[in-house]
Amino acid sequence: MDRFYVTTPIYYVNDVPHLGTAYTTIVADALARFHRLRGSQVRFLTGTDEHGEKIEQRAKELGVAPRAFVDGASQKFREAWPHLSCTPDDFIRTTEDRHVRVVQDLWRKCRDAGAIYAGTYRGLYCVGCEAYYTEKDLVEHEGAQVCPIHRTKPQVLEEPTYFFKLSAFQDRLLAFYEKYPSFVAPETRRNEVISFVKGGLQDLSVSRTSFSWGIPVPDDDPERRTGLGRSGSDKAEKHVMYVWFDALTNYLSARGEETSVLRTTFWPPDVHLVGKDILRFHTIYWPAFLMAAGFPDEQLPKKVFVHGWLTINGQKMSKSLRNVVEPLALARELGTDVVRFYLLREINFGQDGDFSHAQLIARYNAELADSLGNLLNRNLGLVTKLRADQPTLAATAKGPLEEKLEEAARTALAGAIAGFVEVAPHKAIEAIWGLIRAGNKYVDEAAPWAEAKKGENARVDTILATTLEALRWISVLVWPVMPSVSDRMRAQLGLPALATAQGTDALALTWTPDRPTAGLTVGQPIFPKIDADGQARIFAALGVTTAPEVPAEAPKAADKKPEKKGRAPIEPAKELAYEEFARVDLRIGTVLSCERVPKSDKLLKVQVDLGEEAPRQVVAGIGKTFAPEALVGKQVVVVANLAPAKLMGLESRGMILAVRGESDADLALLSPTVARAAGSRVS
Ligand code: MSP
Repeated sequence: MDRFYVTTPIYYVNDVPHLGTAYTTIVADALARFHRLRGSQVRFLTGTDEHGEKIEQRAKELGVAPRAFVDGASQKFREAWPHLSCTPDDFIRTTEDRHVRVVQDLWRKCRDAGAIYAGTYRGLYCVGCEAYYTEKDLVEHEGAQVCPIHRTKPQVLEEPTYFFKLSAFQDRLLAFYEKYPSFVAPETRRNEVISFVKGGLQDLSVSRTSFSWGIPVPDDDPERRTGLGRSGSDKAEKHVMYVWFDALTNYLSARGEETSVLRTTFWPPDVHLVGKDILRFHTIYWPAFLMAAGFPDEQLPKKVFVHGWLTINGQKMSKSLRNVVEPLALARELGTDVVRFYLLREINFGQDGDFSHAQLIARYNAELADSLGNLLNRNLGLVTKLRADQPTLAATAKGPLEEKLEEAARTALAGAIAGFVEVAPHKAIEAIWGLIRAGNKYVDEAAPWAEAKKGENARVDTILATTLEALRWISVLVWPVMPSVSDRMRAQLGLPALATAQGTDALALTWTPDRPTAGLTVGQPIFPKIDADGQARIFAALGVTTAPEVPAEAPKAADKKPEKKGRAPIEPAKELAYEEFARVDLRIGTVLSCERVPKSDKLLKVQVDLGEEAPRQVVAGIGKTFAPEALVGKQVVVVANLAPAKLMGLESRGMILAVRGESDADLALLSPTVARAAGSRVS
C-alpha cells in the first residue's frame, strides 16, 4: 500500500500562529487529505521548535521560566490548526523526551563517525534567524552591516564549540542532488542550493555555551574535549546543541521508538514543506547530518518543497499587519474552507504571493458563490421544480453535450490528481474549477427548463442526472481543500460524508449518472454572495481598512528620494511569476480591414490576421485616435487568448495593445520594429 509522510517546519514558539505559518500548515493538510482520499497510509507531522537563545530571551522578557513559557506557547499552535480544519497525525515538541533521546542519539552517531569535533567558533550570529553568518552574507542598512532577514546587527561570537564537518559532505551532497533531481523543488531553488554548495561549505558550529535552553550535548565530558577551550574555565562550560541540529531531527524523532510500526512505515519523508527562508537548513544541513549518521542516500528525505513568501495587501508582513490577518479571525468571518480555498487558489505554490482582502472577496464571489454555489443550488432547485415527483433520474437520452461534460469531469480528475501529486495545489484547484465552469455552461446549453416545456422528460432527467453526477465528482475532488464544503454539498446531494479508508481509492471515480431523488435537499446556499455592505461588515470585523495600513517597515517620507520633476511615480505592480506571464498569448497581427462601430466614437471593428485560418474580429477602443483606414496594413500586438467578449453586440476575440498618453484620443499602438509574419509570438 502506498504511504505518504508530509511535514511542515516546526514553528518557533516566540511567535503565535499567523497567516504565514497557517499557509504552510494548510498546504500540508491538503496534501495529506489528498493522499488519504487515495487510500494511502498517511502521516502528517507538525509541531513546535522550543529551544534556543531566541526562545530563552523571550521567556526572560516575559519574566517566566522557559519551560512554562514554551508549554503555553506550543499549546496555542496545537489548538490553532484544527480551527483551520488541519488535522495533523502528530504534533511534536522539541522539549519532549521522545525527541531529546533521538537527537542525542543522532549526535552520538555523527560524533562516532568522526563528523563532530571540538574547536572554537569566532564569527557572527543572528539570534532572530538562529543562524551563523559571514561578512559577505550581510547587507547594508542605515550605515551598518546587518542580517539580510532581520535587519539587525548580528552578535560577534567567540566561544568554544563542537563543529560539524559540513565541508566533508560537499561532494556527496552534490552527487546526491545529481542522483535525485527532485530532492529540491522548484527547480530554481535546486539551482540555488547547488550553486551555494559548489561555492564551498564551511564546517558548522553545532553547540553553544553562552546560554542553556537547549538539548545538552551528550557525553560532554570536559576532559574529553581535546580541541576545546582556551582556558580551564571554558572546560567547565556546558554545551547545548545548536537549535537547528535539534530542530531538524524532529522529522526523525516523531517516528517513535525502535519497536514502533511508524518507524519502518514512515521513513523517509516524502515531502518536507518549507518556506524559502529555511531552504539551506533543509537541503544542505539536514541531509548532511543524516549522511554522517550513516543513512544511505535512498533513506534520505525524498523532497524538500520550497514555497515563497506571503505579503499582505502588497506589503511585507509586519507584526501589526499579521494581526490584521489573524487566520482564525478570518476563518470565523468567512469560514475555514474559504480561507483554505483562497490561500491554495491564489498563490502559485512555490512562488511569492499576496494575500489581499479585496481579492479574497472577489474570488469568493466569482469562484465560490457564482460558480460552485450556483451550480449546486441551481440544479437542486431545478430538480425540485421540474422532476421532484420522480423516484429516480436516469441519463437515458444522452447526446454530445453529456459526452462533453463527462470528458470535462475526466480531465478535471486527472488534472486534480496531477496537481496534488506534483505539490501544486493551485493547479489541482484550477483543474477542478474547469469542471465547475463546464457544469454551469452545460446547464445553460442543455436548458432543461426548455426541454421540460417541450415535454421531453427523458432529456430533462438526463440533464439533471448528468449535472448531479458532475456535482458528486466535484464533492469528492474539493475535499482535500474544503472538507466541510464537501460534507455540506454531499448532504444536499443526499450522499454520505466522505470517509477515507486505507486501501480504498475514493478518487477511482466512475461516471454513473443515475440518481434516486430521495435525499436531495435544496439547502441554504453554501456561499451566499457578499455585496458591498457585507464586505464592509467583514472588513470592519477584521479591522481592515480598505486603504492598506502603512507598514512599520515603509520608508519614512523623509527617507524617500525626491521624485524627478515631471515624472509621475510608478506604482509597482504585483510580482508576476514567469509561468503566469507565459499564459498570456501575445501575437503579432496584421490589420486586414477596419471600420467604425455604429453609434460609437471610440470603438473600431478590426479584422486582424493572426496567421490562423480565418481573420479574427477584435473590437478595439482606439477610434478616438485612429481613423479606420489609417490602420489597414499595420502590424499590432494582440492578446490572442483573451476570453471572447461582446462589445455593443459585436463579438471581440482578442485585444490590441496600446499605450495611453493624455487621453483616449492620444493612443500609441505597439508594433514590431521590423515586419513579422502574422501570428508570430511576442515573448
Ligand atoms: N523553527 C524554524 C523551523 C524549523 S524546521 C526544522 C522556523 N520557524 S518559524 O516559526 O520561523 O517558521 C518558519 C516557517 O513559517 C517558514 O519556513 C514558512 O513555512 C512559514 N512562514 C512564516 N512566515 C511566512 C510568510 N510571510 N509567508 C509564507 N510562509 C511563512 O523557521
